Amino acid sequence: MAGKFIGIGVGPGDPELITLKAVKALQTADIICIPKADVDKPSLAVTMIKPVLADRKVKPEMLELIFPMTKDDISNQELWDKNADVIAQKVNSGKAVVFITLGDPMFYSTFIYLYQSLQTGHPNVELEIIPGISAFNACATSAKIPIAEKDELVTVIPSDLNEKLVEEAAKYSDNLVFIKCAYRLKELIPTLKRSGFKKNSTIAIIRRCSMPNETVTVGRLCDMLNWDISEDYFTIAIVKKNCFINNSKGAVV
Ligand SMILES: C[S@@+](CC[C@H](N)C(=O)[O-])C[C@H]1O[C@@H](n2cnc3c(N)ncnc32)[C@H](O)[C@@H]1O
Repeated sequence: MAGKFIGIGVGPGDPELITLKAVKALQTADIICIPKADVDKPSLAVTMIKPVLADRKVKPEMLELIFPMTKDDISNQELWDKNADVIAQKVNSGKAVVFITLGDPMFYSTFIYLYQSLQTGHPNVELEIIPGISAFNACATSAKIPIAEKDELVTVIPSDLNEKLVEEAAKYSDNLVFIKCAYRLKELIPTLKRSGFKKNSTIAIIRRCSMPNETVTVGRLCDMLNWDISEDYFTIAIVKKNCFINNSKGAVV
């Protein structure tokens, strides 16, 4: 009997933000695949699912798959294809194979590459995708500021801080969400000003959202120069063209 492959989003960090559907899949999986950029680095996603697996009598096989973050498309493709082959072989032997990913699997996730390799190389593998709470959604709630309302436009800006591109996108956006590169945002203050953002535009920097060491800083664009924003991969910045009044106690204003 053929098994199944399920890609799961485990949310931003807090195990209580894992959906019931994902919990069910994790509690019945034969094999749980853990994507890792480096063999020696611990996986945050594994820490998150520990409470969900705690009561399982029969423990699942934990299968680490290496996905290095390199800019070499050809060797990356080879690795994704190799990982897809491993998964297809397990599924074809009748196993329920789950792949965990932070946040949502269809939003800037390693899962997407694996999914494409599977679709190309193993189109007969039965596949399901379970959404997760994306970090940017969770960050907006931690900062207690809305990502968008009414007819506002939102743009998500990932890594590579191409100033010209940011300037153009920002011109037409009411709200910007910076991921991967958020800790470098100070460099972009002049660009944002050229795009219509003002001194009192609201900015929120959220680090390690929903994790025990979460920090939230909310204030005005002009305040940001005084903030200490050291490098941390798990950082998101939400910048609103307008000034949004936030009196929440959880935020540093
Ligand atoms: C490769 S993307 C993964 C996005 C993920 N699939 C999602 O739906 O949230 C990684 C980036 O997401 C953001 N991120 C993920 N988890 C986060 C968290 N708990 N707190 C703050 N930012 C987070 C960071 O900007 C990080 O650089």
